[in-house]
Amino acid sequence: MKIAVIGTGYVGLVTGVCLAELGHHVTCIDVDQEKVEKLNSGKSPIYEEGLEELLQKNLHNEQVEFTTEYQQGLKDKQLVYLAVGTPQGEDGSADLTYIEAASRDIAEHLENDTVIVTKSTVPVGTNEYIKEIIEANLVHEVHIKIASNPEFLRQGSAVYDTFHGDRIVIGSDDEEALELLEAVNAGFNLPIVKTDLRSAEMIKYASNAFLATKISFINEMANLSEKIGANIDHVARGMGMDKRIGESFLNAGIGFGGSCFPKDTRAIISIGKEIAYDMPILENVVDVNERQRSIIVDKLLKRVYDLKGKKVAVLGLSFKPNTDDMREAPSIAVTEKLLEEGATVVAYDPVAVANAKKVLPGQVNYAESAEEAVQGADVAIILTEWKQIKEFPLTGYKERMNKALLFDGRNCFNLDQVKDSGVEYHSIGRPVIYG
Ligand code: UDX
Repeated sequence: MKIAVIGTGYVGLVTGVCLAELGHHVTCIDVDQEKVEKLNSGKSPIYEEGLEELLQKNLHNEQVEFTTEYQQGLKDKQLVYLAVGTPQGEDGSADLTYIEAASRDIAEHLENDTVIVTKSTVPVGTNEYIKEIIEANLVHEVHIKIASNPEFLRQGSAVYDTFHGDRIVIGSDDEEALELLEAVNAGFNLPIVKTDLRSAEMIKYASNAFLATKISFINEMANLSEKIGANIDHVARGMGMDKRIGESFLNAGIGFGGSCFPKDTRAIISIGKEIAYDMPILENVVDVNERQRSIIVDKLLKRVYDLKGKKVAVLGLSFKPNTDDMREAPSIAVTEKLLEEGATVVAYDPVAVANAKKVLPGQVNYAESAEEAVQGADVAIILTEWKQIKEFPLTGYKERMNKALLFDGRNCFNLDQVKDSGVEYHSIGRPVIYG
């Protein structure tokens, strides 16, 4: 099939390249000339495992191409995917500026009947709005249909998730559009949920909100476990073996970050607000998550009292491992608080330093390795469970620090490992070990 994808951000690029891999002819359109040139030369602007290889293979086979020209890009396409960003607006709702602009651009240049497929995460009802914008601005006499096909990709494993996801959701109020999308996606060989437009939009928000709830829930249980002398590792394992609960997303820590969960939970609350429907569960999910970010520093202050003049090593800055993404990373709030308390902060992250420098306070110092960061430190804090950080041995803390005092916000070590290590170890939802 002939497909256009508008927007070559993380969702659009992965979608375009993976659809090409299935054998479709894909033209990706982006307004950023430099990015388009880079992509046409086989270089991916983002790091996603396996993406650049697939990009190069499909460029070579002429299955995928990149352009800044709408007219050329939309020519003869049976489907046009909308995959532009929907950042968080000032009031917490999704900002639709890019969606509106892309819809107008499509309308201006579309010369044949097509199905518009929304990949971007958009508030319920937006697909109908997109259809209105396009229909109101069409230059040529053509008919469009609209469908929603939300993505559930995790950063870092987006290509894998595209081919091995749990389900594909397609929603439309038009039977033919549904059939076309079903045919396009058949090659993925995954279960397909067919539904109406609004339910598809809702599935995306409800799924992310549920996962965010699971994280805030386990964090709340962790905080309580700690206070009453239980161990959250055991609690989560015991809970997760119940298939109705499920074992995944029960890792306690310093809360969720990233480009999706914080934004989407706030957006769904704001959808409710617009129609005067309160969502107390989700409001608390957001509040618990905010609180969770400061918990590690609160613990530290309780133990050390005064951070003035103390050197704190911060290990891990990105919102999760295997990405350089700093969006809504707990490290932002944590480093700000540490500096406010008068600490000297030396941070290490295997890949996120360049992005971290753009968002963390200017006083943060950076180290090239975990060894260098903890050298001569009074306290070390783990914020992201990178392999390099999990594998940095406890003896490394003991040998390099004044007194090995480690606060682990991601429960990277099991408690047996820490016993007799010479490290005083504070983690989330588990007893303190004076190793
Ligand atoms: C998420 C969803 O998984 C994906 O389906 C959606 O399309 C986009 O949002 P992503 O943001 O890439 O993907 O990261 P994910 O791996 O899901 O982790 C999100 C955050 O939750 C991270 O900050 C992570 O540290 C945190 N998390 C996750 C926990 O604190 N505990 C857990 O058990 C799981």
